Amino acid sequence: MAVPVDPGSSPLLAAALRAHEAAFGSAAVLAAWAPGRVNLIGEHTDYNGGFVLPMALQLGTVLVGSPTQDGTISIVTTSAEADEPHRVQFPAPSPGSSLSPGLPRWANYVKGVIQHYRGGPVPGFSAVMASDIPVGGGLSSSAALEVAAYTFLQQLCPDDGDLVAKALACQKAEHTFAGMPCGIMDQFISVMGKEGHALLIDCRSLETVPVPLTDASLAVLITNSNVRHTLTGSEYPTRRRHCEQAAAALGKASLRDATLAELEGGDGPLLISSHSLGHQELRPGAGREALAQDGCRMHPCSILRAVRLCCKDTNISAEARSRLGDEVFRRARHVIGEIARTAQAAQALQHRDYRTFGRLMVESHNSLRDDYEVSCPELDELVAAALEVDGVYGSRMTGGGFGGCTVTLLEAGAAHRAQQHIQEKYSGTATFYLTKPSGGAKALPL
Ligand code: ADP
Ligand code: GAL
Repeated sequence: MAVPVDPGSSPLLAAALRAHEAAFGSAAVLAAWAPGRVNLIGEHTDYNGGFVLPMALQLGTVLVGSPTQDGTISIVTTSAEADEPHRVQFPAPSPGSSLSPGLPRWANYVKGVIQHYRGGPVPGFSAVMASDIPVGGGLSSSAALEVAAYTFLQQLCPDDGDLVAKALACQKAEHTFAGMPCGIMDQFISVMGKEGHALLIDCRSLETVPVPLTDASLAVLITNSNVRHTLTGSEYPTRRRHCEQAAAALGKASLRDATLAELEGGDGPLLISSHSLGHQELRPGAGREALAQDGCRMHPCSILRAVRLCCKDTNISAEARSRLGDEVFRRARHVIGEIARTAQAAQALQHRDYRTFGRLMVESHNSLRDDYEVSCPELDELVAAALEVDGVYGSRMTGGGFGGCTVTLLEAGAAHRAQQHIQEKYSGTATFYLTKPSGGAKALPL
């Protein structure tokens, strides 16, 4: 079981420095590191303006390098999984000119960041990158690469230091150079990660609430299925489009604004949740006025002020299904339910109510499997096996889906047992990571 070490003193940094010396015949003078992430709950909610609850990992990507005088940018990756060639060279973009994506694909992540860097123009440099995040494993090696590259550029030619703008620029790089219309979660947590905390992120306002995750009796176990199904490329944008269709049909800017009652066409009772109020049922058909009357305005945390949790009336309206189509209806049902579950889970974690948190993780997995249809047999197997272990609170697939990893919340004392049991039951070969929540991207002193 891999237990990562602190990046500043990691063998990863040493390996990247050696590789720079070997590739360019000179020592690197700048270094940056950015973490991957695991999302505890809140899947496929970020591009719907909803909540996510990720934590930054101790696994990350290092980029080391030096300025050069010849106006060229040369980059080497040490990753065996990256497509060939592993070394690229291109002219630093002059003002008014722009870079374009091409082959090898891995270089597009760095080119995109150079293109969208806010402190440019970027001068020539040499760089080597190395990572201990499994590449393509759903732990955001790509976002870590973008954020590490941005953090490196901040030392080469400083920007204004605006961290939210940094995350948004890295997301834009992924959209425009990697062709992946991702939400903001991965880049945001890689920039903003807080040691010892998961981060509840409101992906609409980009407000955050750090949730402590330092209880020594608790562990977060990541299990890599080591499978990646190739559907992902087309499935993600399709899911996104379906969500937009559902929101438009409901007359909402995004599914964040929709309730299950609205989706299902019913007018059932509404549940709200907040720290001060606990769970309260409002009268059927209650709207914003009722939320205000019931004291939600008073809640100090604006993020959790008026989260509508669910409609108790589970009779699905046939009319809504036929209006949206069964697929779009179920996609929307996942997203609306998941946004509510994430807010509730963040509260449960704040109160160290791990049982509730675990139950919500399982609900999340089932909804991703049945309604959003982004799980796969291997992830379902891993979750089922984890849930058989004594001391496991909950388990679910994490990240975009179609392979990659599961995340399991469990008693620290059960971690070894869980790993053994999961491996025994799993039809493939799993890899395990026990990791604590790390801080966000940083420059590494050399
Ligand atoms: P994830 O971000 O979950 O690991 P993605 O499929 O979104 O998976 O991104 C993986 C891609 O990111 C790789 O195929 C590769 O192009 C690029 N990548 C990530 N890390 C590195 C690295 N250290 N070196 C080169 N390419 C990398
Ligand atoms: C990731 C994507 C994120 C998020 C996630 C699903 O692959 O990069 O933005 O949408 O899938 O929660």
